[in-house]
Amino acid sequence: MVLSGCRSMFSMLLSLWLLASTPVLAIWPAPSSISTGDSTLWIGSALSVTYNGKNLPWAYGYEPSGSKFSSSEIVRGGVGRAMGSIVHNNFVPWMLYNRMELETTEPNLLKPKTYITHLDITQSGTDKTFKPVAGEVDESYTLKVGTNGKATITAVSSTGVLRALESFSQLFFQHSKGAFFYTKSAPVSITDKPEYDHRGVLFDVSRSFFPMESILRTIDALAYNKMNRIHIHATDSQSWPLEIPALPELHQKGAYAQGKTYSPSDLATIQQYAVNRGVQPIIEIDTPGHFGIAALSHPDIVAGWNSEPWTAYCAEPPCGQIRLNEPKVDPFLDKLMSDILPRVSPYTPYFHTGGDEVNFNMYTLDPTVGTNDSAVIVPLLQKFIDKHHARVRKAGLIPMVWEEIPASYNVTVGKDVVIQPQGHH
Ligand SMILES: *[C@@H]1O[C@H](CO)[C@@H](O)[C@H](O)[C@H]1NC(C)=O
Ligand SMILES: *[C@@H]1O[C@H](CO)[C@@H](O)[C@H](O)[C@H]1NC(C)=O
Repeated sequence: MVLSGCRSMFSMLLSLWLLASTPVLAIWPAPSSISTGDSTLWIGSALSVTYNGKNLPWAYGYEPSGSKFSSSEIVRGGVGRAMGSIVHNNFVPWMLYNRMELETTEPNLLKPKTYITHLDITQSGTDKTFKPVAGEVDESYTLKVGTNGKATITAVSSTGVLRALESFSQLFFQHSKGAFFYTKSAPVSITDKPEYDHRGVLFDVSRSFFPMESILRTIDALAYNKMNRIHIHATDSQSWPLEIPALPELHQKGAYAQGKTYSPSDLATIQQYAVNRGVQPIIEIDTPGHFGIAALSHPDIVAGWNSEPWTAYCAEPPCGQIRLNEPKVDPFLDKLMSDILPRVSPYTPYFHTGGDEVNFNMYTLDPTVGTNDSAVIVPLLQKFIDKHHARVRKAGLIPMVWEEIPASYNVTVGKDVVIQPQGHH
């Protein structure tokens, strides 16, 4: 009795001691495999970085610009951001320790410090293209941090290097006494790769307008979480924030307010910012449903704008769909797509043509259709999709659609088309 009581007390103390002394790890998402030690290493701005054997000059806040991406520039931007996370945007991990415990367990500032002096990055593959299709990017990486202060990253692609730098930055915390940054987990060895090819967020900037900084901040959050897609639902029946210089009346009449729009340079900025963070942008202009707002500038191409009771004609008000048999639609879409597609194609292989929640009953209000009979509508919808996807292909892009197009409306799509399952119901 007494003995076993003693023993359990001992093992409780032992496990408390282990808990208190286990260095906190906050690598996210949890890597495929990780091993750590219990040595302390410090890090600061005097980190020397090489990329494939050459010195890589890095700077805080460095952002590559333009649409001519190079692997080393992408890596350079990634190093600057990782070091910024460590040195400028770090935190004292109070919340990761028990109350009153951090100050007694964090490394002693007065003792000699071993600094991480070198980070050697090796990329074994070439980034053939900066418009990779799903599955083409090997995002795996290995990260090692030795107790001698030398760290190495090896990856196949620059995206893999970015994921490794993200994990690297997450190893370090700020000391409670000031601007000193440490890990207590050296040596560290991580090998990692994502479980899924497509890891992203759909950002609807039409039903609600979001300023640029919100979009860029969201891309940052995706990169912190090693996610790789941002799908921008750029227009809808509620508002048209996307500036189309060839058709300026769309945003002039359709935005929520003057200035609540994305200029061509805003769109380029969003896409460049994303690619530089290993996040592929996918822009969607939803058709033929979710298009009501265009009636304010182009009433002849829209059916049933703002029709009531809206429950009979669309999924949410205000209603409005592209007319399915109206001769003015093709020249309009030719103009729209020849404006937007070349502005998207430097950054992504895909363009999303929407296709969700097409309301067949709405076509009773379409003067060029006049019925909700699917025997009439489906062939018209097929023609619409065929022509619309041909525009996308002509611009060298791969069309994407919501699943209803083939799965609910029996429209046949090309073998190249990427079909996106509905997540929002
Ligand atoms: C189709 O239209 C007819 C005639 O307007 C109407 O009675 C019927 O309810 C409509 N069907 C659907 C599914 O809305
Ligand atoms: C699509 O095909 C299925 C199966 O043949 C049928 O039940 C459905 O009504 C069709 N939908 C349309 C919109 O024609």
